[in-house]
Amino acid sequence: MIKLTVNGEPRSLDVDPDMPLLWALRDVLGLTGTKYGCGIARCGACYVHMDGHALPSCVTPVSAAEGKAITTIEGVESDTARAVRAAWAELNVVQCGYCQSGQIMSAIDLLNGNAEPDDAAINAAMQGNLCRCNTYARIRQAIKQAAASLRAQGGEA
Ligand code: FES
Ligand code: FES
Repeated sequence: MIKLTVNGEPRSLDVDPDMPLLWALRDVLGLTGTKYGCGIARCGACYVHMDGHALPSCVTPVSAAEGKAITTIEGVESDTARAVRAAWAELNVVQCGYCQSGQIMSAIDLLNGNAEPDDAAINAAMQGNLCRCNTYARIRQAIKQAAASLRAQGGEA
C-alpha cells in the first residue's frame, strides 16, 4: 500500500510502486487536471508540486511520493496561487488549455522563490513547460502581473 498526502488529504493506494505518479493521480484518484503530454519529462503538462516544488509526475514513481506533500492544480491554494489564477484570467492566457495546469504549477513555484522575476528568470523557470498554442508571451506577462499584485498586497511572493 502506498501512502500519499494529496492536496492535504492522506490517501492509501493499492498500486504498483513503480506506477508513475501521474497515473496514480489521474486514473486512481480521478484528479484529471494534471495532463499527460509526452511521458518523458519534456513537455511539463504533468507538473505537480512535491513539497512545494514543481516536477514532472510522468517520470516520478508513485513510491517516490510517499511521505511527501503532493499538490495538484485542483488543490493548490495560497496567495501566490490566487494571484496567478487571477492574472491568467485577466490576461486570457489560455488558448486550448492543455498545457496550462502545468504552466501554472511552474509559475507558482517560481513566484514562491522570486518576488520579481525578470524575463531571464521566467524563461529559466518555465523552460520545462511547452505550449503548442504558443501562449508564451501572455504567460510571461501574467507572471509579471501576478508578481506585481503580490508585491502590492505585501503578501507572500
Ligand atoms: S507528460 Fe510529463 S513532462 Fe510531458
Ligand atoms: S494553451 Fe494549448 S498547448 Fe498551451
